[in-house]
Amino acid sequence: MLAAIARAKLNLALHITGIRPDGYHLLSSVVAFANYGDRIEVSPAEALSLHISGEFSQQLPGRVEDNLIWKAAARLRDAMGITGGAAIHLQKNLPVASGIGGGSSDAAAAALLLHDLWQLDLSRDGLAELLLPLGADIPMCLYGAPVLVEGIGEQVTPIYGLPPFGVVLVNPGVAVSTPEVFALYDSLRHCEEAKPTKQSSLADSGLLRFARNDEPDWLELLRQCHNALQEPAGKLAPVIDDVLAELESAPECLLARMSGSGATCFGLFATEEQAIVAAARIRAHYPHWWVQASHIS
Ligand code: C5P
Repeated sequence: MLAAIARAKLNLALHITGIRPDGYHLLSSVVAFANYGDRIEVSPAEALSLHISGEFSQQLPGRVEDNLIWKAAARLRDAMGITGGAAIHLQKNLPVASGIGGGSSDAAAAALLLHDLWQLDLSRDGLAELLLPLGADIPMCLYGAPVLVEGIGEQVTPIYGLPPFGVVLVNPGVAVSTPEVFALYDSLRHCEEAKPTKQSSLADSGLLRFARNDEPDWLELLRQCHNALQEPAGKLAPVIDDVLAELESAPECLLARMSGSGATCFGLFATEEQAIVAAARIRAHYPHWWVQASHIS
């Protein structure tokens, strides 16, 4: 049996730099991963199977064939001419449809495990190209380390020197639809055409050069950035603003922001110990919210 943690993906910053003719948005995003996530196990078997357990398994209704793990496994098997299968187990510890890459992170982790189980010889770029059509977040999740992401998610460049900030993840239990958030972003932008855009590419802003300095001030850089989807997501689910206010009120919180298209938000802290204290406080205030402390890398 092979196992891995499909870590939660966090968009520490997410700028939108353009839109493609097919409606997909061009992004410029700094992405890191929390040291917490879903657990995936794969074992040899004659056929493909997927069993799901865990805190959030009930939020994944429907056929297992619709799960991104299944789609990634089937695509890899068919592309590589594999005749055998695999018994896959997903322990769903992360809330679904919540902006932290759950489905994409699961698909990426499962594909890497199956790649080893089936003794394949694909490069990470080859795997990313094969699986990109299943989800724009899959290439960054295959990388699984701090990256600058551009294009619709397929251009992934490693970044170095990001401090292992403590982090608190908070999800208020509201699922927001990614296409709806992007659509509202488009209509808000349309209404405000006259307003100058702050949507610069993070690469243009010198981030990569910055990242290669010995001691870049990451916090200052991140504070100058934003998540362009935070405003439309907040309009669709106003509780997101409550989550951000609660994180910001934690005494040692350095930065609070939404991840991806929401609704999960995160707070950065100097240490994981500080994050653990803040998480306990938030849990006490809002027992129905999902709150998890960790650190990023
Ligand atoms: O690829 P993924 O399944 O994550 O995308 C879900 C939806 O989000 C897409 O169908 C599209 O409407 C929107 N999206 C986008 N631009 C991106 C990623 C997603 O407009 N870069």
